[in-house]
Amino acid sequence: MLPKFLVALSSVLGLCSASDYTYSFLKNKCATPSIKCRDAIACLTPNADSCCTSKYGLTVMSFGWYSKTGPADQFTIHGLWPDYCNGTYLPEAGCDSTRVYDNVGPMVKSANSSLYDYMVNYWPSSSGDHEGFWTHEWNKHGTCLSTIDPRCYAPGMYSPEKNLVDFFTLATDVYKKYDILGALKKHGIVPTANTTDPNVTPKYTKKAVREAIKAELNLDSVAYCTKGGSLQEIWLYFYMYNNDKFVYAPATLGEDKCDNFTFINKY
Ligand SMILES: *[C@@H]1O[C@H](CO)[C@@H](O)[C@H](O)[C@H]1NC(C)=O
Ligand SMILES: *[C@@H]1O[C@H](CO)[C@@H](O)[C@H](O)[C@H]1NC(C)=O
Ligand SMILES: *[C@@H]1O[C@H](CO)[C@@H](O)[C@H](O)[C@H]1NC(C)=O
Ligand SMILES: *[C@@H]1O[C@H](CO)[C@@H](O)[C@H](O)[C@H]1NC(C)=O
Repeated sequence: MLPKFLVALSSVLGLCSASDYTYSFLKNKCATPSIKCRDAIACLTPNADSCCTSKYGLTVMSFGWYSKTGPADQFTIHGLWPDYCNGTYLPEAGCDSTRVYDNVGPMVKSANSSLYDYMVNYWPSSSGDHEGFWTHEWNKHGTCLSTIDPRCYAPGMYSPEKNLVDFFTLATDVYKKYDILGALKKHGIVPTANTTDPNVTPKYTKKAVREAIKAELNLDSVAYCTKGGSLQEIWLYFYMYNNDKFVYAPATLGEDKCDNFTFINKY
């Protein structure tokens, strides 16, 4: 073991041993030795490299349960977004006006048509305007994810299309990892009602959702409902490190309006 001051000095000088660093990069990204990701997390580590950890701190993955949208028996993707460490939102207009696009759908399709097809199925808009939804998600949230800033790419590896594909791949990878409905079902929370009638039963509580997701997925979550009191979204909270790794983060937005909700069949 090195004395403390030597450990600190060696990390300043970049002289860390192999076990101090984890090299784990998205394909073709950050392949430059000048960016080495340590297991640093923005909210917990001052001056962590923002190519390695989302610099604003938290990352939220939002799963949606929208009427007549996507597979009958699965939550769909609403979005993946960075929040400040205290759980408040980043600017509505996004974080980089030079990367605001109006044609995200066609750009993704030309870069990777199977990702595009996957998104049509699992990242659909309840209005049917999927491409418009993704464009909004990218402009507002994707541009704020510091780990995919253009400067994080190895020389010659950056392109707007690749940048979009990296964002949507990251989000779909997180989505694939967590079977929300399966977790809820194990705790008896199942879509049963067919109506928004407030007297419909059974009713569930957000506490039950939190406990089910904590028990099955070991993550903090917050449930959101429609004004009519039916389950609409579940947000999972993460810290991000080593570029594309997600770990537990405490949920910081406590108050939702989902105390006693119905869970309605989509179709
Ligand atoms: C949350 O954090 C951000 C960024 O540090 C800060 O600008 C904002 O004022 C904070 N909001 C609250 C409610 O603490
Ligand atoms: C395109 O997207 C699909 C689905 O997400 C993925 O499996 C595949 O590896 C991607 N192809 C390339 C060339 O990145
Ligand atoms: C709701 O509709 C589905 C599909 O038509 C049906 O299988 C289910 O039994 C209905 N549930 C209730 C509570 O009426
Ligand atoms: C939810 O509200 C209904 C009536 O609106 C009530 O009968 C039921 O006990 C409540 N359930 C829970 C779990 O709070």
